[in-house]
Amino acid sequence: MIVNKHRPLRPANYVPADLVQPRVALAVSGEAAQLNRTTAAAAERMFAAAAADGVTMTLASGYRSYATQTVTYNGWVSSQGRAAADTASARPGYSEHQTGWSFDIGDGGGACSFQPCFAEQPAAVWAKANAHRFGFVVRYPWMQHAITGYFYESWHLRYIGVAAATDMRKRGIATLEQYFGLAAAPGYR
Ligand code: DAL
Ligand code: ZN
Repeated sequence: MIVNKHRPLRPANYVPADLVQPRVALAVSGEAAQLNRTTAAAAERMFAAAAADGVTMTLASGYRSYATQTVTYNGWVSSQGRAAADTASARPGYSEHQTGWSFDIGDGGGACSFQPCFAEQPAAVWAKANAHRFGFVVRYPWMQHAITGYFYESWHLRYIGVAAATDMRKRGIATLEQYFGLAAAPGYR
């Protein structure tokens, strides 16, 4: 399931059937602390490996329902305007968070959550180097917004499986659009 500005959830109010709360350090509660079963299991392995390396990772935002994304997106529009909002937050029905396959990480130190400076925090540095070993990719990499539609989000991970994530990294392919031969999706159609 690939979601971007050209590929909305179908139906728009899709809800994963197998949401569970992973046994990881949580920085949120409620639906945002949930992931689909496969992603939750992979997250548990990744967070444990990070901890073994001395890096504390927190789950900062996981599943988001259509209704929650509506509130989130409208908040961005109110504070930044629609054009800027669209570079950072998906419109309802277009967020990867609604799939259950993706989540945002925080650093145990709590610094820079959801901000550009998060890229230098231990959790982000560790994830960039190691997430593929657990099946994750950094979904919105640096300077790929013309393809992904979003500015760099060093905190946003997407599960695609160990084989694909490792292959993508080995081949130096930055985005899922390029890896799966999909059109660039910088904006809504
Ligand atoms: N921040 C990502 C793009 C989302 O809203 O799903
Ligand atoms: Zn995210």
